[in-house]
Amino acid sequence: MNEYIGMVEKSLKKYNSHSNATEPQKNLIDAMNYSLEAGGKRIRPVLVYAFCEALGGNAETAAAPAAAIEMIHTFSLIHDDLPAMDNDDFRRGKPSCHKAFGEAMAILAGDALSVLPFEVIADDTQLNADQKVMIISLLSRAVGKSGMIGGQVIDMENEEKTDITVADLENMYRRKTGELISVSCVMGCICAGVFDPDILCNAADYGFKLGLAFQVIDDILDVTSTTEELGKPVGSDAEENKTTYVTLFGVEKSREIADGLTNEAMKCLEVINDNTFLKQLTEMLLNRKN
Ligand code: IPE
Ligand code: IPE
Ligand code: MG
Ligand code: MG
Ligand code: MG
Repeated sequence: MNEYIGMVEKSLKKYNSHSNATEPQKNLIDAMNYSLEAGGKRIRPVLVYAFCEALGGNAETAAAPAAAIEMIHTFSLIHDDLPAMDNDDFRRGKPSCHKAFGEAMAILAGDALSVLPFEVIADDTQLNADQKVMIISLLSRAVGKSGMIGGQVIDMENEEKTDITVADLENMYRRKTGELISVSCVMGCICAGVFDPDILCNAADYGFKLGLAFQVIDDILDVTSTTEELGKPVGSDAEENKTTYVTLFGVEKSREIADGLTNEAMKCLEVINDNTFLKQLTEMLLNRKN
């Protein structure tokens, strides 16, 4: 795990370095780096590396897509925290990007982090052209209007509603959280040169199940944890009038749901022979404290 985290942090630095100390957009690059370097759990890039290596690929091949997904995820968090969205002033243990750099620069840092990933993949020297096109196609879809961004829209619109069903919530979570986690797993397979539909479907399914469990646990931690431990404000969901798994089912039943989803995710890993690390990671995420 730490080896993968070290690799992703090194390439994030490489891909977003300053070209010179006096460049006019220095503040933008500083704002991007501020959020990238704040140090999240790096789950999504770890999944890219882990799927690639579990399927016999070389980790080097996964470097660009791994960095790319962490940039997209960081962009989603910068925008998620804005006053117009969840209005949270703390992220990854530090003031949110808009608190440190102002709202306009935070919006632009998020914008820049939403396109740099596609530049990084297109210019990569490890992936072949077929791999690049497939990764760009899948990643852009996972991010866009039917993916993470679509999910964020449904999330915001749901704040006005009081009649949200579990099916509505599941659909929203599949998009806002599941898509980026699922595409991480699939990109890892493609980096390994694996295009077998059975493996790709199981990897995608694993990601959606893990992603849903991940968001249910995020909902639980929002009411059971502390700001110090989480590195972001607790109680944010209630403050923004969110319907969550906790408001629908309570903490205990939500834990059982996350447990069941984790077991379902584990089953998808059976198509991969060398699945020990992935299984450990899945178990670890169920018991995470932040
Ligand atoms: C937070 O994601 C947003 C959700 C989808 C729940 P993470 O919990 O992966 O955040 P970091 O990257 O560790 O900060
Ligand atoms: C985050 O959902 C989903 C995305 C950022 C795409 P949340 O709003 O629950 O995430 P946190 O709790 O602020 O990290
Ligand atoms: Mg949100
Ligand atoms: Mg939020
Ligand atoms: Mg949350």
